[in-house]
Amino acid sequence: MKLLKHGWLLLKLTVALGFLGILSLLSRPKIGWDPTYRFSWLEYTDAEDIPEKVCNCSAILQGESEAVEQAKILTITKDFHKSVQIPDEYYINATQDCREFKLSRKYLTFPLSQEEEEFPLAYSMVVHHKTFERLLRAIYAPQNIYCVHVDKKSEASVFSAISAITSCFPNVFMVSKAVNVVYAAWPRVQADLNCMADLYNAKTKWKYFINLCGQDFPLKTNLEIVRALRSLKGGNSLESEKLPEEKQRRVSNVYQIVDGKIQEKGKTKEPPPFNLPIMSGNAYIVVNRGYIRSVLEDKRVLALIEWAKDTYSPDEFIWATIQRIPGVPGSTLPNRKYDMTDINAIARLVKWQSHEGPLGSLETVYPVCQGHHVRSICVYGAGDLQWLLKQHHLFANKFDTETDPIAVYCLEKYLRQKTLLAT
Ligand SMILES: *[C@@H]1O[C@H](CO)[C@@H](O)[C@H](O)[C@H]1NC(C)=O
Ligand SMILES: *[C@@H]1O[C@H](CO)[C@@H](O)[C@H](O)[C@H]1NC(C)=O
Repeated sequence: MKLLKHGWLLLKLTVALGFLGILSLLSRPKIGWDPTYRFSWLEYTDAEDIPEKVCNCSAILQGESEAVEQAKILTITKDFHKSVQIPDEYYINATQDCREFKLSRKYLTFPLSQEEEEFPLAYSMVVHHKTFERLLRAIYAPQNIYCVHVDKKSEASVFSAISAITSCFPNVFMVSKAVNVVYAAWPRVQADLNCMADLYNAKTKWKYFINLCGQDFPLKTNLEIVRALRSLKGGNSLESEKLPEEKQRRVSNVYQIVDGKIQEKGKTKEPPPFNLPIMSGNAYIVVNRGYIRSVLEDKRVLALIEWAKDTYSPDEFIWATIQRIPGVPGSTLPNRKYDMTDINAIARLVKWQSHEGPLGSLETVYPVCQGHHVRSICVYGAGDLQWLLKQHHLFANKFDTETDPIAVYCLEKYLRQKTLLAT
């Protein structure tokens, strides 16, 4: 076993050295050999317009108040915003030469360990924005597969930019059937379902499924994600709790989409099929391959899906409900003792404004948001990073590279450095 691993590493190193050889032939002065990392050419360097003096990520990650304050000032500077935004046209042009695109954006081109290679992941990415590329780059590994759903309503330039990017990778593809996503209505679930089917039918026999939206960003490296998933020992990790009284209405009344908005129809719904207890959760899940098979094939789940199509915000109960159906791989019993909160699950970290507070207060779930709020959810600022990185969640929501670019900038640098140090 040891020998095998050694041989495998040697092979990787040979590939890597061969790669370096090609690079030196092409005489790329920007790429050097830094003995700190074996794969130093994959390291992110400081953006030309934000040198470390102006935006010191290591100080920000350590929560140093001076660096965080400086980041806040930078965040509200117009010129700074201009300098960090990447226009759609750049992607359309840059992806004409995929090799050059992957090289200049420093995509990983080979699995960094045998452990990761033997544990491929499947991602469903429901996005509507070009910032998709930053997220893809942060989670990209060649052994994983990625299904991308772009909202049918999206501008043509966004669609072109994103499909140009996906066409550069054999393991990243556009969903076969895109839908019109309507806030709090069924199509949001359908988008994930369409990706689930495409991913399940792909050649790669991936081990776990993770769904993301464009405002998510990872808190862990691919290796850390793989290790966290292996430690679940076949279990799933998602919020699944008793449905609170105030949300009952969402599943006891019929809703419909009118002019692109969801509204009540004034009709009562039949109870759920098979008397399934409806659980409360959120749209983001970490589940094994068998759970996805159940979603696509189990007749109880298929009946639940049909039943849920005219409810309010089905994305916030359907996965949580399936997670408690006996026989679904990785599920837990419906008994309340198995309830899991979003804080205990590793799928997604979200800071709801109503749960923020001073540390030391009994009510506080997390420290006060250092960015700003959108629909009562924290959009993380640089000052949130130190706390974020101490959490066990694989991903956090929300990040916005337009309003708060430094949080993502420092996070992506941190993750890449950690990735390379582990090789
Ligand atoms: C950035 O912050 C770290 C940690 O405080 C410090 O050691 C380093 O010297 C700083 N770098 C610059 C360029 O100011
Ligand atoms: C398109 O890309 C090429 C090289 O890949 C570059 O020389 C050119 O300036 C780019 N054009 C635009 C409009 O960005």
